[in-house]
Amino acid sequence: MSEPKKLFIKTYGCQMNVYDSERMAEALGAEGYVTTEVAEEADMVLLNTCHIREKAAEKVYSDLGRLKPLKAAKPDLKIGVAGCVAQAEGGEILRRMPLVDLVVGPQSYHRLPAMAKAALRGEKPVDTEFPEEDKFDHLPDRPRAAVRPTAFLTVQEGCDKFCAFCVVPYTRGAEVSRPAARILAEARGLVEKGVREITLLGQNVNAYHGAGPADAGGGDWSLARLVRALARIDGLERIRYTTSHPNDMTDDLIAAHGEEAKLMPYLHLPVQSGSDRILKAMARKHTAADYLRLIEKIRAARPDMMMSGDFIVGFPGETEADFDATLDLIRAVGYGMAYSFKYSARPGTPAAEKAPVAADVADARLQTLQALITSQQRAAQEAMVGREVSVLFEKAGRLKGQMVGKSDYLHAVHVKTDLPAGAIARVRIVSSAPNSLAGEVAAA
Ligand code: SAH
Ligand code: SF4
Ligand code: F3S
Repeated sequence: MSEPKKLFIKTYGCQMNVYDSERMAEALGAEGYVTTEVAEEADMVLLNTCHIREKAAEKVYSDLGRLKPLKAAKPDLKIGVAGCVAQAEGGEILRRMPLVDLVVGPQSYHRLPAMAKAALRGEKPVDTEFPEEDKFDHLPDRPRAAVRPTAFLTVQEGCDKFCAFCVVPYTRGAEVSRPAARILAEARGLVEKGVREITLLGQNVNAYHGAGPADAGGGDWSLARLVRALARIDGLERIRYTTSHPNDMTDDLIAAHGEEAKLMPYLHLPVQSGSDRILKAMARKHTAADYLRLIEKIRAARPDMMMSGDFIVGFPGETEADFDATLDLIRAVGYGMAYSFKYSARPGTPAAEKAPVAADVADARLQTLQALITSQQRAAQEAMVGREVSVLFEKAGRLKGQMVGKSDYLHAVHVKTDLPAGAIARVRIVSSAPNSLAGEVAAA
C-alpha cells in the first residue's frame, strides 16, 4: 500500500471555522488523507480563512507568501483556500496567488473531495456557490473522531441580519438551521466518544429554527427546545451555545437557563455599542436600553449568569459622547469577558461608504475600553476565590500532577489532581491569576 497523503489545515477566525476544519479533515479522510501538524510534510495545505476584519484577510495572503518555498521544493504540494476569504474573493485569489490550487467557499465543503482530485489532475477548481442543498446533508454522518471532552457542533449557519459593518451575511449566506434529528444524532455520537460538553455553534445560534424530529411531532424547533432535548442525553453534562443576537433572545430560551442545569451560566451576547445613534447606524435593530432590560431578564432567570460580549470602537460617525455611552453600558452590565475590535471597513458593506474615525482616536478608545473590560474580568475572577465551582478537566497542565479545565463560568482552572481528562469535580477556588484560576478538588 502507498503512504497515506498528508493534510495540513490552518484555521483562522471563529469557532464555526474550527468545526468546519474538522469536517473537511473527515471528508478528505475518506479519500485517504491523514492530518499532520507539520506543514512541511503535507501533500495538501488548506487555509480555512476569515474575512471579518482587514487584518484577518491580509494574514491569509502573507501566509500564502510564506508557502512559496515549500511549493518550490515540493511541486506536487496542493494548496487550497477555504472559508470566508475564499467566499468573498473567489477566483481572484488564483490571480493574486498563482501557487493556490483550489478555492472552496464555506457552503461547498461536501464538494472538496472531488475538488482535491481535480487539483491532483492539475486543474484549479473554484467553488463558491451557495447550493440549494445543505452541505451538512452531504458530509459523512459518522460520529466524528472526538477524543477531547469538549466539542463544537454547528446547528445553524449564515445570517440575515446585515449589520452595516459585517461581511458574514455575504460570506456565509442566508440563515440555515440543521434538522434537530441530525443534531441529536451527532450529539449522541460525540457523547459515545467521550464528549461531555457540547457548544452549539451558529453565527446567529439563537435564531435556530430547525425541523423538529418526525417522532416528536415535527414542526419547527427553537434553540430552547433543542437545548432541552440535548439535556436529556445521558452522559452529556454541559451545554453551551454561541453566538447569540439580542433580538433572538426569546423568553423560552431565557427560561431554559433557569430550568436546565446542564445549560451553563455563561452567555456571549454581543451588543457592539452602547450608543443608540451608533446602534441605529449599525442597523442592529435594538437600543442600549433594550439590551440592558434583556440582561435584567436573563439574570432574573439565572442570577449568576456570566456575561460576555463584543464591541466595535471607531464605527463611522462615533463621537466622544457615543463612546462614553458604550463605557456606561459596560459599567452597567459588568462583563466577565468581552472582545473588542477597532472598526475595519469591509468591501461591499454599507458602512464602508462612510468617512472613518481617525485611526489614532479609534486606537485610544480601544485602549480605554479594553482597560475597563480587563478590570471587570479581573474582578469577576477575584469574586470566584473562596467559591466552589464545577470544573470539567480537559488536559494536563504545565506543572506535574496538574490538570486544566473550565469552570461552569468558562474560567480556566488549574488543579492538582489525579482525575483524568473528562472528569467533572467540585473545586474550591483558592487564587486568581491574570488569565486563570487555581483550585483544589472539594468532591469528584
Ligand atoms: N454573529 C455574531 C458575531 C459575528 S463576527 C454577532 O452577531 O455578534 C464577531 C465579531 O466581530 C462581531 O461581534 C463584531 O464585534 C466584530 N466585527 C464584525 N465586523 C467587524 C468589522 N467590520 N470591524 C470590526 N469588528 C467587526
Ligand atoms: Fe454580522 Fe450582525 Fe449577522 Fe452578527 S448579526 S453575523 S454582526 S451581520
Ligand atoms: Fe470570520 Fe467567517 Fe467566522 S468571516 S468570524 S470565519 S464566519
